[in-house]
Amino acid sequence: MEKKLYIETYGCQMNIADSDVIASVLSGTGHRLVKDPGEAGLILINTCSVRENAEQRVLNRLKQLRHLKKKNPGLIVGLAGCMAERLREKLFDTEDLIDIVAGPDSYRDLPSLVAEAASGKKAMNVQLSRCETYSDILPHSGHDGISAFISITRGCNNMCSYCIVPYVRGAERSRNPESILGEARMHFESGFREVTLLGQNVDSYKWVSGNETIEFHALIAAVAGIDPRLRVRFTTSHPKDLSEELLKTMAEQNNICKHIHLPVQSGSSRILRLMNREYTREDYMSRIEAIRRIIPECSVSTDIISGFCTETDEDHRETLSLMEWAGFDFAFMFRYSERPGTRAARKLRDDVPEEVKTKRLNEIISLQNSLSLRSKKNDLGKIHEVLVEGYSKRSKEDLTGRTSQNKVVVFPGDYRKRGDYVNVLIEKYTSATLKGRII
Ligand code: SAH
Ligand code: SF4
Ligand code: F3S
Repeated sequence: MEKKLYIETYGCQMNIADSDVIASVLSGTGHRLVKDPGEAGLILINTCSVRENAEQRVLNRLKQLRHLKKKNPGLIVGLAGCMAERLREKLFDTEDLIDIVAGPDSYRDLPSLVAEAASGKKAMNVQLSRCETYSDILPHSGHDGISAFISITRGCNNMCSYCIVPYVRGAERSRNPESILGEARMHFESGFREVTLLGQNVDSYKWVSGNETIEFHALIAAVAGIDPRLRVRFTTSHPKDLSEELLKTMAEQNNICKHIHLPVQSGSSRILRLMNREYTREDYMSRIEAIRRIIPECSVSTDIISGFCTETDEDHRETLSLMEWAGFDFAFMFRYSERPGTRAARKLRDDVPEEVKTKRLNEIISLQNSLSLRSKKNDLGKIHEVLVEGYSKRSKEDLTGRTSQNKVVVFPGDYRKRGDYVNVLIEKYTSATLKGRII
């Protein structure tokens, strides 16, 4: 009998890539992906723990799925990913809907976890691994067919004091470069035109084989070497590890996209020290200067946390002034959310009142809106090479794609151009998109 699997993914791009690994593992036991949870015999929710509201969203979603189990008592519901790792068997106690709890390094074990659940037992594997990278599993991609994610490292060895990721994803490990190149080649040959190399800290990628060491800049050069028509992106860079070699490689290779996501978190050196980020405001500024010097056309995006422990108005103003100085093209901005068990939760008081966190966050967002608008305005009259991804969200008359700098562009055109590169003259902009025409 055909087994229908529905996967819903929360959290970062790594979880999107992991959901493909899950689908691939379970295709081995005859499970086929479906788009409607109502049809499925197995529902897996791939979860995120990074902030409290990320977990709350999943808990709310579980409530919505409850009626499906009433209709179909044989339905198996599993929680995968970071929240599964963090909450473990507690999930069985609080959420009776859940049959399977599968941590991020346990996906090879899913067939047996599913079999156990099918026999009426609660099944769990939350063992973290020092070596699992799923390198031999070809992901089963249900995506658009133009742009794919490839995990190159798993886990994280940094100990940013606010962050739950090292606890739920385990120690950092790099994946065999041959398997990365093989996956990228496979994607290119099946029509994909963009791959994004993923890791919590891609700059610390390292593969030692014999007396040869492959670092991130060499890996990305090799991936870009597959074909000039394959765009290569990467995320996330850590300011303490972003190397000049990488910047030079980016400058040399046209198909490595000119965009760096460089999370700053705060503009105050005092707060950065409490966050254990291992760089100061000045170090961060010198990284931005290096980017501007070596790749003048590069865009830079960032992540910012408002209201971390002990943050004062003065610290907050330093964040605003650094944003202004750097002129970020785009940013993800968050209120600090204390995560149980992290160093900040154990050693520091979450002492900035929620309303102050919100007020500061709103100021950060409003400044970023004007910076984003300024960044788009700079593109007016320029011609950008755009990889066509498909119809725009609003209309089937228009196509959409992104520039090398990762800015979304909307322009009239024929859907058959999907997967092609076109040159677009930018004529208009909003804070979210550029608009133009193919020339
Ligand atoms: N590895 C990446 C990002 C990981 S999580 C890096 O080092 O930057 C993505 C973003 O979530 C972080 O950059 C940070 O801005 C935010 N974040 C992580 N923990 C958080 C917390 N406890 N509260 C609020 N935001 C958090
Ligand atoms: Fe978390 Fe820091 Fe690791 Fe990023 S680098 S995942 S913020 S611990
Ligand atoms: Fe969230 Fe886990 Fe990614 S905590 S941000 S899904 S690594």
